[in-house]
Amino acid sequence: MVSNIQKSTSTTFTSFIKSKWRSNTSTKSSRQYASSPSITDIERDWVRHSALKLALDGDYRAPLHDSLRSGGSEVLDIGCGAGFWTTDMANNYPISHFTGIDIDKSVFPTTLYRVARNIVFQRVDLLELPLPYEDDTFDFIFIRCMMDVVPDEAWDDILRELVRIMKKGAYIECMETYPDLFDAGPNMSTIMQRNLLISLSICKTPEMQSVASAQNPLPNRMAAIDQLMSMQIKHIHTPVGRHGGPVGSLLLEHWNRIIQSSKEKWIQQKLITEKQLAAAVQEIAKEVDENQTYMSWYSVVAQKKGYKGPIIRIEDFDNPER
Ligand SMILES: C[S@@+](CC[C@H](N)C(=O)[O-])C[C@H]1O[C@@H](n2cnc3c(N)ncnc32)[C@H](O)[C@@H]1O
Repeated sequence: MVSNIQKSTSTTFTSFIKSKWRSNTSTKSSRQYASSPSITDIERDWVRHSALKLALDGDYRAPLHDSLRSGGSEVLDIGCGAGFWTTDMANNYPISHFTGIDIDKSVFPTTLYRVARNIVFQRVDLLELPLPYEDDTFDFIFIRCMMDVVPDEAWDDILRELVRIMKKGAYIECMETYPDLFDAGPNMSTIMQRNLLISLSICKTPEMQSVASAQNPLPNRMAAIDQLMSMQIKHIHTPVGRHGGPVGSLLLEHWNRIIQSSKEKWIQQKLITEKQLAAAVQEIAKEVDENQTYMSWYSVVAQKKGYKGPIIRIEDFDNPER
């Protein structure tokens, strides 16, 4: 039996997303995100975004609530995709300003849907440096789920460039998943392995592939940047499957959508046969519950050195909890 959570997410969010995001406009960019994402890819990102929001009890960890709320902060969401994070943040902090950038402008919310006034979406390729922003522009830079789409060897230059466009005292926050699922049974392991093989195909040589898969390179790379300080890493473990309540059900749905959008590629590349895949898919929901399967994420937050001005504090006398 499919859980209520799974059922309701599958049936309701499809129409919500279809009205908000277009999925098939082709772009003329020189480099694309593999191919333009389908509605299944966009839904998958929305499911993951919703699961992480629940798991983290919020959208970010940097200590910026007061300054974002007091207004005037400039925030950059790197590889924003369909802008789920950007949109939620812009709604929560209506007098700060949000820029979402992505190589693929076809995924941005359509003008048919009312996009918050404090957001701008821009087509920017992270691999074409320098980025089109002045030094010291942003108060907060957020990057999530980008390891698989940017080649490993590009990150040092990208991170240095991001530090250039951060204001002194600004924060950078990166959140990534570890590629493996933990305590996965045989069927889920089969799926995960196929997915990993495809995502690693952005790395051209076996040496690059082993580097990308074996390390969690962002914290190591950020630690090596002199201009950053106060780095904090947090590990988050999220269940996959109904055994993990709403977060687990959403992440199981996320994996189902990965399978849906990748199965043709896997079969074409002979990573699995159609029959093997169908058999694995049938077992997954039960198997992840039996094994209490989970995913792990890391979130790393750091601050740019050099800020000497006042720290914003807001006293909220109406809210006894603050
Ligand atoms: C896995 S999605 C992550 C979306 C979003 N950050 C989230 O957490 O839901 C990766 C995004 O990176 C974008 N992307 C891939 N290569 C890029 C590049 N070179 N420059 C900018 N964006 C890129 C893709 O178009 C896609 O929207």
